[in-house]
Amino acid sequence: MNALVVGGGGREHTLAWKLKQSEKIATVYCAPGNPGMAGIECIEIGDFEALADFAQTHDVGLTVVGPEAPLCAGLVDVFRARGLAVFGPDKHAAQLEGSKRFAKDFMVRHGIPTAAARSFTEAGPAIDYLHQVEMPVVVKADGLAAGKGVTVAATREEAIAAATACFDGAFGEAGAEVVVEECLIGEEASILAFVDGKTIKPLASSQDHKPIGDGDTGPNTGGMGAYSPAPVVDEALWAQIDELVLQPFLRGVQEDGLDFRGIIYAGVMVTAEGPKVLEFNVRFGDPETQAVLPRMTGDLAEAMLACIEQRLADYDFEWSDDTAVCVVLASGGYPGPYEQGKQIDGLAAAETNGAMVFHAGTKRVDGQIVTAGGRVLGVTALGPDIRTAVHRSYEAADKISWEGVYKRRDIAHRALDRL
Ligand code: AMP
Ligand code: GLY
Repeated sequence: MNALVVGGGGREHTLAWKLKQSEKIATVYCAPGNPGMAGIECIEIGDFEALADFAQTHDVGLTVVGPEAPLCAGLVDVFRARGLAVFGPDKHAAQLEGSKRFAKDFMVRHGIPTAAARSFTEAGPAIDYLHQVEMPVVVKADGLAAGKGVTVAATREEAIAAATACFDGAFGEAGAEVVVEECLIGEEASILAFVDGKTIKPLASSQDHKPIGDGDTGPNTGGMGAYSPAPVVDEALWAQIDELVLQPFLRGVQEDGLDFRGIIYAGVMVTAEGPKVLEFNVRFGDPETQAVLPRMTGDLAEAMLACIEQRLADYDFEWSDDTAVCVVLASGGYPGPYEQGKQIDGLAAAETNGAMVFHAGTKRVDGQIVTAGGRVLGVTALGPDIRTAVHRSYEAADKISWEGVYKRRDIAHRALDRL
């Protein structure tokens, strides 16, 4: 059979690369894909019905949806209605990511520890509330905002400005409802788990780096780098996460009758009181995937098919003992305005020592690869320990250049600090 990956960023590049290794899969298609995808058939296809037509006429036995937007817009529903095997939640269940209030209600209903929160649909009451609560607080646009709809506000002025911006349309419809949340203190970890409605099984742990600047300073981005495993998630914490987050999540899916056969990503804050969930995403993390999947030794297509067919109980994930580090290269100015179309040099050189370059925002113009997004590339290297993996990934990433290229220099600093 063939496989189809929907999306075209670094996460989808990694998914396509890993599916390509599967013995079950002949051809991997990616819609739209990107110019870095060697051996993958990139296709340009418009709407969900046209994609489903393509899947039916091209022997696609497994479709994987990378980004949240098509999941929230109901791609899975269209495919399932035609009997196509697709990995991901349906439109209703995708609200666990698409609406922060839906997710919060789910967590409260099923006893999953999370920050206390209130949600508002009008500026007046939100601002009144922000005058009363203690700072810091976290202000979030309710809907999808590409990781940028969250402000951790140290002062009342900042909090009010953030809420006002949401209601004034800074995030369009996504900001029509605003969630104000208690600020949790601790170290974050990304917990990804496959769920088939009967069983939940975690993948290897990882950690992202959301702020743009070294030392976790500056505005939040989609993620500037990742590594796996995250040593903060030791055996004792895994046991707590299983008991307090994963099992209640599975029970919640069952009790609420959600059609969730895909991956759940819990952004977890490890607080002094134990793990608390910051948010759910209903898809693979980006860039966490670029660090996690290179460590997976088993067959990803097999795992996904087991999940879709509710046989996940019979599938065992296996992981390399190596550590993986992914460094993201971004356009200068990101997450604010940035220029595009810069010629990228050094791509081939970067891959000479076993490092992998996953494309996130590139395009091919006159045979040259140029920048075409905020996050442009992810460079992943493996090593027997975190120090070696960090060294190898920066050695490779530093071979790549374009005018204005930016990267954080401290990916994995929390793991290194633990040594
Ligand atoms: P989210 O998109 O909800 O994951 O938020 C993006 C980032 O904002 C998270 O990865 C955290 O770094 C931060 N954040 C979100 N909610 C909270 C919270 N309640 N307390 C502290 N930091 C938060
Ligand atoms: N790395 C954060 C995310 O995928 O949402």
